[in-house]
Amino acid sequence: MRSRRIIRGCDGAVEIDETGGSVTKVYLHPDPETAIRNARREVAYTTRFREVLHGVEGVACPRIIGQDLSAPPRVVMDLCPGENLSAYLQRIDRADPGVAQIAGRIRLGLELYTRVFGEPYYDFCFNNMLFDPHSGTLTLLDFVVPAGSEDTGPATPLEASLGWLIGCACYELLRPVYLFSSRSAHLVLMRSVVAGFEGRIDAARVNTRARAALTVMGSGGGRLRRSYYKTIGLLISGSYLYRLRRARAF
Ligand SMILES: Nc1ncnc2c1ncn2[C@@H]1O[C@H](COP(=O)(O)OP(=O)(O)O)[C@@H](O)[C@H]1O
Ligand SMILES: [Mg+2]
Repeated sequence: MRSRRIIRGCDGAVEIDETGGSVTKVYLHPDPETAIRNARREVAYTTRFREVLHGVEGVACPRIIGQDLSAPPRVVMDLCPGENLSAYLQRIDRADPGVAQIAGRIRLGLELYTRVFGEPYYDFCFNNMLFDPHSGTLTLLDFVVPAGSEDTGPATPLEASLGWLIGCACYELLRPVYLFSSRSAHLVLMRSVVAGFEGRIDAARVNTRARAALTVMGSGGGRLRRSYYKTIGLLISGSYLYRLRRARAF
């Protein structure tokens, strides 16, 4: 029997076929032109980035197997090893010595990405990374530009990517499952990733981008959810950002 599962995202669905070792991403943006543009971009960026990562130890990107641009467009790629990094961080202890290695690999991946494309890794977040604890490999995924990630103030590609990463991680930490957890390795990892770019990024611009990302993410859904992010969410995420800055992470 084949083992398949479907992960639903904002503008699409991802079908994971464990037996066949493949992943099919379907682009369901309501505007068909945008859906095709997203699928094309995913193929072009994934293919190029994979070439760049050839021979780079510990950082990877999926191999594209096929594409079909008829509606709805879909892209098929290899199933990469590892666990979604967000889920992995939820399981491990904040003092886990592996966090430093993961941070180094994330920094290397971002460094190469921004250098080769000359633009932000727009959806740079722990959810778009897989980590395989057996090999130590970090896989980077999802090169579509998410709604609201552009034009939110001046920033270099590095600053914009890091701002989005911080905004997404803060957003994630606001979920009830994390709120009273002192174990979460998210903050430690985030601090370590950003600290590695010290001297090359402007803290105020990263901070502005992080807040803009949080606003985008907290603005969907019902009234209760929106008001949670506007009030308690802003308060708590403000304390995360403060802790990051006090730790001289950026
Ligand atoms: N090639 C792949 N190998 C393994 N898991 C994958 C692969 N592509 C996607 N995934 C999993 O599916 C999730 C959603 O895929 P993603 O490309 O990020 O789509 P979305 O645009 O919906 O966020 C990822 O967070 C990851 O956990
Ligand atoms: Mg994604």
